[in-house]
Amino acid sequence: MKPSTALSAAAVVLMSVAIIHARSAGDAPSVTQTANEDAARGFKAFIDGRLDGLNGNGRACSDCHMPTDEFQLSPASVEQRFRIFMLRRAHNPDADDPLFRPIDADDFRVNGPQASDYSNLRQNGLIRIIFALPPNIRLIDPITNQPSDEASVDVWRMVPGVTDLKLTGADGSNAWPRGPNPTGGFQLDARVSTLQEQALGALLNHAQAQSPPPQRMLDDLSSFQRVLFTNGRVRALSEAIDEGVTPLPDADPPLNALEQQGKAVFIRACAQCHGGAGQSTPRPPVVRFHDISSQCPRPVDTATPARFNFKPCPPRLARNVRTYEITLPTGAKIRRTSSDPGRALLTGFAGVGPPAQDDWNKLDAPGLRGLRNTAPYFHNNSADTLEEVVDHYIEFFKRVPTVAAPGVVPPVASLPRLLGLS
Ligand code: HEC
Ligand code: HEC
Repeated sequence: MKPSTALSAAAVVLMSVAIIHARSAGDAPSVTQTANEDAARGFKAFIDGRLDGLNGNGRACSDCHMPTDEFQLSPASVEQRFRIFMLRRAHNPDADDPLFRPIDADDFRVNGPQASDYSNLRQNGLIRIIFALPPNIRLIDPITNQPSDEASVDVWRMVPGVTDLKLTGADGSNAWPRGPNPTGGFQLDARVSTLQEQALGALLNHAQAQSPPPQRMLDDLSSFQRVLFTNGRVRALSEAIDEGVTPLPDADPPLNALEQQGKAVFIRACAQCHGGAGQSTPRPPVVRFHDISSQCPRPVDTATPARFNFKPCPPRLARNVRTYEITLPTGAKIRRTSSDPGRALLTGFAGVGPPAQDDWNKLDAPGLRGLRNTAPYFHNNSADTLEEVVDHYIEFFKRVPTVAAPGVVPPVASLPRLLGLS
């Protein structure tokens, strides 16, 4: 990390920790004091790329979850860092930016440690996530069009922010029929249940630590992330929940008339999936995990005139699409195409039930606070602006009835729900 980035990172984060200190100054409870110390140590671990004794690849959490980027990573920041890195390298062959490691290069599978094509990272802000394939799912080799012997698949995902995590983990309600984490969790597909488990995975996979990190470091990283909030109002909401205060304070700032109108629409159309204090709890009968057609390729209507019309993925995203062969319990084989099959990669449960119950392309609904600073949007950074997000959802709501079983009105797009009557 550049010294200037490190400095602003430290400023942002220390401020956050300082607020906690200030609030607890005066009252004695040593529990709070200890929590503050844990969080402060967690902050140091979060920005530490040296990871003494762990023999990592030089990456810190903050290389991807950039404190100056709302603890996420925008393609614009990646490109800026890449250019600075190349300029520095022209003068100093040892110049480094640990964001750029071969494991996240497009050509890693071909060139291994010599890989250097960072197109997915630079153009899309996406990181490689590797999944072992479930026993009933195989990849199709694009050249032979036959099942390949690959045992794992690379999917490319954006780096989410790590704020408000105290509110967006599992919530114990509205369980999905299959695990892992049927009531939500961490990661875009909710496959991780605790922040410690998350930190362990990040240290081993993203930072390529060669030795297991100490438990205390994982606990500290968790403590630190649990005091990060988008803003003071969300922090106050979280504290009120902890204290059992009713009614809970509203985390929104004062809104003008137009914003209030927008909020009413949000509560009707969006909060059915982005509900609760973390904006990540679906409201029954709407189910837990969803396919919102954000993967590539986007669905295309076969009817004329088309009843819905998603903006197609540009080639820079469409190149991440793979075709899969799924063996059903009957032995029949079907093929499906996706840039990110989501929870189906965890369970192999695809092609067996009606779309609502299938795991294919299903992801966990994320919190939405602080979005104005975190463009682009969706798990693959495929919507450049919030206007594009809304345009996408307009097509989503148009499509829902066209894929429902005859006579079934899916709760998410039922007219009474959209009108706020149920
Ligand atoms: C190489 C970039 C990179 C590094 C380094 C990295 N992360 Fe991440 N992080 C990601 C990506 C990409 C995801 C989403 C992955 C997915 O959903 O499969 C993610 C997801 C997360 C999440 C889940 C957030 C949520 O809303 O569910 C947490 C928490 C997190 N990272 C914490 C950490 C911590 C702690 C570290 C350091 C120990 C770290 N990350 C290092 C790229 C990175
Ligand atoms: C059917 C459930 C559902 C509904 C309804 C829904 N969402 Fe989502 N939303 C999701 C899921 C699941 C994701 C994660 C998928 C992804 O990121 O590609 C998501 C992701 C998002 C993201 C991306 C967040 C980020 O950090 O990139 C935004 C923004 C968003 N939704 C806004 C909205 C708005 C605005 C509405 C109402 C018009 C809405 N959502 C309605 C389920 C839903």
